[in-house]
Amino acid sequence: MSQKVKQPIKINLDKDRVYFWCTCGLSEKQPMCDGSHKEKTDKKSHSFKVDETKEYFLCSCKLTSNPPYCDGSHNK
Ligand code: FES
Repeated sequence: MSQKVKQPIKINLDKDRVYFWCTCGLSEKQPMCDGSHKEKTDKKSHSFKVDETKEYFLCSCKLTSNPPYCDGSHNK
């Protein structure tokens, strides 16, 4: 698995829009899925919505226990 970025990514997300968080670490559009998982892994993206339009910290190390949000696992 490629893990180019270890820190959480701060990103503004819009309420009720559907997002696809990358679970495999191969996407060039971190933290979101760009479809790269399809040919190289058996993983799938994680779809989610947010209840409020604001900035969020999304996991980029893919070790979080609370996807797609950073839970500090990158520090371990
Ligand atoms: S590119 Fe990683 S889950 Fe889609």
